[in-house]
Amino acid sequence: MTTELAENIDWVGYVDWDVRDFHSFDTHHGATYNAYLIRDEKTAVIDAVKAPYVSNLLHNIADKTDLAKVDYVVCNHAEPDHAGGLGALLANLPNATLLCNAKCKDALGGYFDTANWKIQIVSPHDKIPLGRKTLSFLDTPMVHWPESMFTYIPEDQILFSMDAFGQHLATSERFDDQYDLHSILVEAKTYYANIVTPYGKQVQAVLKAAENIPIKMIAPSHGLIWRRYVSTIIGEYQNWAAGKYAPKLLILFDSMWGSTAQMADAVMRGATLESDKVSVQFLHVRKNTLTRIALEMLDASAVALGSPTMNMQMMPFLSGVLTYIRGLKCIPKTAMAFGSHGWAGAGSKHLDMWIEETGWLRLMPPIQSKFKPSCDILDKCEEAGRKLAQAALNAVSKAAES
Ligand code: FEO
Repeated sequence: MTTELAENIDWVGYVDWDVRDFHSFDTHHGATYNAYLIRDEKTAVIDAVKAPYVSNLLHNIADKTDLAKVDYVVCNHAEPDHAGGLGALLANLPNATLLCNAKCKDALGGYFDTANWKIQIVSPHDKIPLGRKTLSFLDTPMVHWPESMFTYIPEDQILFSMDAFGQHLATSERFDDQYDLHSILVEAKTYYANIVTPYGKQVQAVLKAAENIPIKMIAPSHGLIWRRYVSTIIGEYQNWAAGKYAPKLLILFDSMWGSTAQMADAVMRGATLESDKVSVQFLHVRKNTLTRIALEMLDASAVALGSPTMNMQMMPFLSGVLTYIRGLKCIPKTAMAFGSHGWAGAGSKHLDMWIEETGWLRLMPPIQSKFKPSCDILDKCEEAGRKLAQAALNAVSKAAES
């Protein structure tokens, strides 16, 4: 496996082939925790790994250099998938000083007893010379934690971007040009949709700040390293952070005995009859993961939400999904609610309220069906699908004009 990013700069992280759940993120293709070793007159390690895999990290470092020769460990981000192994790492690097920003030091103090750690606070004005190479830093607050930071080596033009530009993808390859680009981009978008979406403004600020930095390579803390498609992934991040709409209708629903599913189907039929320029995603909430739903929600311009009534509420899994979606602060959608009920139409009413409270554009009052939908109700759903498709196209063309 190639690990060399540039002369004397190597990947020394861990490939986690088995992880399938990452605090609710569905890591169906595994993950990696990337760490990097820079050997010069002085030696530095950038980022650690999850606590259980420190011995793998130490083995990878020891394969390239004497552990006693490591002078610095940079902590770009205090979240435990990277910093969880810091304590054990530092315990095995007797001469290492930890480099991090002030907020990171505070966060690490909340996880570890750092009293005996050698810590040097770094800021964006600092340069840490290693010999021929230099470490410099860029604070990236709320991308996606307050202490988040990039490290940059100007001599090699490599940006170590922690979570940003990352993907949850376990592979034996390390670089973007060694793997299928489409798959990497789907995973990068999935990562953005689930982890970074609430912080679009902060991402835009970071992209602006990084505009004048020459970047030959982006080495994130998850997934493949960008070397051939650097401008591609930066362009994608610009689009995602700007909240660019796709001509997409997302139909998200649950169903008990098939009535709400029939209504969902009629909405889809209306949308597809209206325009073949609108992509429709038809997602039953209990048959799709949160991760997939968030991915499809990211750039959808129209959404139809469907639920029957259970105990005077919407269905419970849908309620949980919508809590997650609200927290992601997606770009506003044109939306409507629908659903069947037995004796009280509470499910679709609650969805309708959710649409209003979330600040989305409410297309129409909810369409409700007592028990099985009649032809009349299905016609109404079909008409709603047509209107949602028009709204999706309008959102895209309006955004293109502005
Ligand atoms: Fe990969 Fe925010 O940690």
